[in-house]
Amino acid sequence: MKITSTYFLLLLYTPFLLQAGAMEELIDQYQAKGAGPFTAEQGGVAWDRTVVHAKSSQIRRCSDCHGADLTKVGRHAKTGKRIEPMAPSVNPQRFKDPKKIEKWFKRNCKWTWGRVCTAQEKGDFLRYLQQY
Ligand code: HEC
Repeated sequence: MKITSTYFLLLLYTPFLLQAGAMEELIDQYQAKGAGPFTAEQGGVAWDRTVVHAKSSQIRRCSDCHGADLTKVGRHAKTGKRIEPMAPSVNPQRFKDPKKIEKWFKRNCKWTWGRVCTAQEKGDFLRYLQQY
């Protein structure tokens, strides 16, 4: 009985452990590069930052695709495709795989800001997104 409930608890919490694992793993990597400390405040400011895209003169920001409310579904600004909510509290599929997170940081920073994000910026973004 005792063993069964331990396994049950483990199963129940595994998604959260994995999620924290991927995010913390990346945060450790960014710190190893000399970045940090990271704060949700700085991440939030960066998330809302508007940048004029050099080629198109469009005003761009992260919420163009991920939406204003992170607990709601977003829509891709270019293709119109549905994007599942960013908030891990409502979308347990979020932030599980460090490779996926890095891949999208790269693409989205380039699309939004016209450059890759620094280790500092990525760490701040993760701290910001983690709290939802
Ligand atoms: C042009 C549309 C678009 C913009 C703008 C955009 N994203 Fe994304 N983002 C996506 C898509 C599409 C995905 C992958 C699909 C998914 O995970 O739902 C994604 C996924 C991500 C992921 C991976 C999440 C995970 O579960 O691993 C992160 C992190 C992310 N975006 C951060 C950002 C940040 C930071 C910005 C602003 C600098 C930003 N995005 C702006 C479209 C966008």
